[in-house]
This record gives sequence, structure tokens and C-alpha cells, in this order.
Amino acid sequence: MSVAIHADQVIKRYGEVTIIPGLTEHIRNGEFFTLLGPSGCGKTTLLRMIAGFNSIEGGGIRFNDTLINDIPAHKRNIGMVFQSYAIFPHLTVRENVEYGLKLRKIPKDEMKERVDKILDVVQITEYQDRLPERLSGGQQQRVALARAIVIHPSVLLMDEPLSNLDAKLRVEMRSAIRAVQKQVGITTVYVTHDQEEALSISDRIAVMRKGEIQQTARPHTIYTRPYNVFVSTFIGHSNLFRGTIGALRDGRREVRFADGGQL
Ligand SMILES: Nc1ncnc2c1ncn2[C@@H]1O[C@H](COP(=O)(O)OP(=O)(O)O)[C@@H](O)[C@H]1O
Ligand SMILES: [Mg+2]
Repeated sequence: MSVAIHADQVIKRYGEVTIIPGLTEHIRNGEFFTLLGPSGCGKTTLLRMIAGFNSIEGGGIRFNDTLINDIPAHKRNIGMVFQSYAIFPHLTVRENVEYGLKLRKIPKDEMKERVDKILDVVQITEYQDRLPERLSGGQQQRVALARAIVIHPSVLLMDEPLSNLDAKLRVEMRSAIRAVQKQVGITTVYVTHDQEEALSISDRIAVMRKGEIQQTARPHTIYTRPYNVFVSTFIGHSNLFRGTIGALRDGRREVRFADGGQL
């Protein structure tokens, strides 16, 4: 069962250094939610807190109503896809996808049914008996995606999954990931520093800077109504003008630009 994710005043510290000073965000059940921001702003850190690989120094993260702060990673029922595909080189595509189900001691018939279905969803059925070394980067990432989804996780977490692919494949894989996510209907938190990728793939985007969320909105809103200077310069192509907005006596507004211009 897919869940909603609630972060309430979440804090991350490494020793004396505070990376995330108190972050609140609500991710809806079934949503494709993207954390977007420059390198080093804390995207991976937050994702790892959701996954259970990072401790939480303050506040709480809930899956629906359940506080997960102290639940170990392997009991959070998370599917993860990383930049490096992290699939087993000595196992075939099919064996890679079966792996998590074997660990969970899923009966053979059900395992076959689930693996067949997911191989079909990510469109790698024809490669199922190959070893990973005989697959392209995009195909390997499809295996990683299948392996993450086949266990029916509560949430799917993806950390820059397309960064290792060449430009053309990256664009193709965006649509593939988006289609698979919608078909499976699983709450997804996707991390990227690539604004174009975020705008094209997400239901909603949270723009991060220095461990703080600057704006959360649908792609179109982020693009057309950036909340502050940081968002407007990080997203799209923008020109900034400094000026003041004043109210005229008849209720209209006027904008005076610092260089003397007027609107
Ligand atoms: N294990 C760690 N110990 C100390 N500092 C860390 C550790 N992991 C990440 N950081 C720091 O936290 C900040 C955010 O890193 P990260 O979450 O990886 O950023 P992003 O994924 O947005 O590029 C960076 O300044 C990074 O140096
Ligand atoms: Mg990162």
C-alpha cells in the first residue's frame, strides 16, 4: 500500500553542522514529488532520512499516521533507485528482479506472476535472461526500477537516477519513469538538480536551497510564478529588475524601476 509522507520540522545535523534546520513538507499518496535544488543543498540527505539510512535529529517523519523516525530502514518498505544502478552483475535481469521477492519468501507462483508483470511494465521482458553487462545504461536502470517496484513498496525513492545516462536516453527515460509511476500509482520522491527534468516529470516540485524549501508547487506554477529571487533564477530563463510597487490614488498600481523606468 502506497502512503502519504509527512515531514514536520525535521532537523539533520552532522556534528556541529546543521544541514537541514527544520523542514516541513507533505507529500500526497500516489504523488510524483520532486526535490529540486543545486548540488549540496540537502536533497540526498532528506531522501536518506525518509529511507532510514540517516538519523533524524529533530522533528518527525510520518508515513500516513505512523511515525517512522525509529523504524529501521529494512522495515520501512521502501523501494530505492540510485544514480549507480546497483544491480547484481552475476545475476540475470530476471534473477535481479526476483531477488527481493525471494528474500521475502514469496511463493513461486506469485513471484513468477509479479516478475512477469513488472518486466512488462518497464519493457525489459525480452532481456530477462541476459546478464547486466550486456545491457545499455537505460536498460540497466529499467532493471533497477523493476527491482524497486516489484516488492510493492510503500514509497519509491529515486536519487538522480538518470544522471549516468547520455542526454537522449535521459529524456526517453523520463517518460518511461513517469509512465511506470502512474501505472503502478506509488508515492514517489524523486531527487534531481536538473530543472528541466523536474519540470517534465513531476506532479509537484519542492525547490530547495541550503536545507530549506523555498517553494512547493506544480511545475507550471514554479515556472510562471516563482516565489522568490532564488527560485526565479534557478528555474527557467529570467530577467530580474529591481523596483518598487506603489498604489496610485485611483487604486491602480504602478511599478517604478530602480533605473528610472516605469510600468
Ligand atoms: N555523512 C556526512 N557527514 C557530513 N556532512 C555531510 C554528510 N553527508 C552530506 N553532508 C553534507 O550535507 C550537505 C548536503 O549534502 P547532500 O544531501 O548530499 O546534497 P545534495 O544531494 O543536494 O547534493 C553537503 O554540504 C554535504 O557536504
Ligand atoms: Mg545528492
